[in-house]
Amino acid sequence: MNFIDLKRQYKAYKSEIDQAVAQVLESCQFVLGEPVQRLEEALAEFTGSRYAIGVGSGTDALILSLMALDVGPGDEVLTTPFTFIATAEAIALLGARPVFVDIDQATMNMDTEALKAVIAEREKAGARLRGIIPVGLYGQCADMDEINRIAGEHGLFVVEDACQSFGASYKNGMSCALSEIGVTSFFPAKPLGAYGDGGMAFTDDESLAKRIRCLRVHGERARYDHVEIGLNARLDALQAAILLAKVPHFPDEIRARQKAAETYRQLIEQKLPGVVPPVVRDDRTHVYAQYTVRVRNGARDAVIRSMQEKGIPYAIHYPVPLHLQPAFGYLGYGPGDMPVAEQASREVLSLPMHPFITESEQAKVVRAMESGLRQGMGH
Ligand SMILES: Cc1ncc(COP(=O)(O)O)c(C=O)c1O
Repeated sequence: MNFIDLKRQYKAYKSEIDQAVAQVLESCQFVLGEPVQRLEEALAEFTGSRYAIGVGSGTDALILSLMALDVGPGDEVLTTPFTFIATAEAIALLGARPVFVDIDQATMNMDTEALKAVIAEREKAGARLRGIIPVGLYGQCADMDEINRIAGEHGLFVVEDACQSFGASYKNGMSCALSEIGVTSFFPAKPLGAYGDGGMAFTDDESLAKRIRCLRVHGERARYDHVEIGLNARLDALQAAILLAKVPHFPDEIRARQKAAETYRQLIEQKLPGVVPPVVRDDRTHVYAQYTVRVRNGARDAVIRSMQEKGIPYAIHYPVPLHLQPAFGYLGYGPGDMPVAEQASREVLSLPMHPFITESEQAKVVRAMESGLRQGMGH
């Protein structure tokens, strides 16, 4: 069993993907070009954004967005400690300071009450707060309306890190189109995955779009006319062509993920006491980039041991929250500073999830967890 089965997906769309790749090879235009432009148009429409800019990765999309918003030394940017490191890394790479806001117990996304408290505390300290980067953890958007409202009150920008939530809806909108800028990743294991690195930034703001477009090619306005210092952060034509072949299947894949999530939820409720399935808010959908449960009562190690014995793949997203990572030691946080994120890091467990998983595979995952739970309880 695979944690994410990309081989089954390739087999299902092989002829379309092979043809798309062959066309790029024939064209010999490998960086940016027509496939990237077509993908930008398709995904701008899909998300309901005016502009989409294809870039080298989700990390590049975060860095370019913060560059376009003129984030720099002396600035502070608020984000969650319970995310992949790239979210906070982008802030630090620009010389700004990541300021962590603890998470909501149920959804594990940024807690808006904690956000208000941290803003009040940093404003009192005279900090130069610039913006907020909420993350749609595991594939469900954070409380974007409330985050946008708080940001508006304090003159802050909001960049949505939608690297895991691409395709998720929130009220009447889609993830990536819910704030100034939304960014996503096309890393192969993401819901919409390429066959290498890739990413995209989305915005309705024409001047931000222009700036990001320019920054992704060395700050180039026209060939060898550089108006500012930028990066090499372009999307490959091959990746764009592969993604274009996958886009028509994406809505069905999301439905398949949601169906598999429902199967897991039922099995968990029947068979796994003390295991909490993902909590999905009524006003949004979840795309299950990860299907992550919480294992209560210190039973996670026993469950994992049983999964290992039975050859069931699993992952922990994330075992160490960012405020306790050595790389962020200089920020001065310590254990106990983000208690909800710290508790989550001890309880979360991601199960195999992809659009092609079968019910019998899911039953096997749950059986392995069940026997682990029994052993954990001393039976
Ligand atoms: C929440 C989050 N932010 C940022 C990234 C970075 O994306 P990439 O790997 O494409 O640079 C990822 C995924 O890896 C992610 O999950």
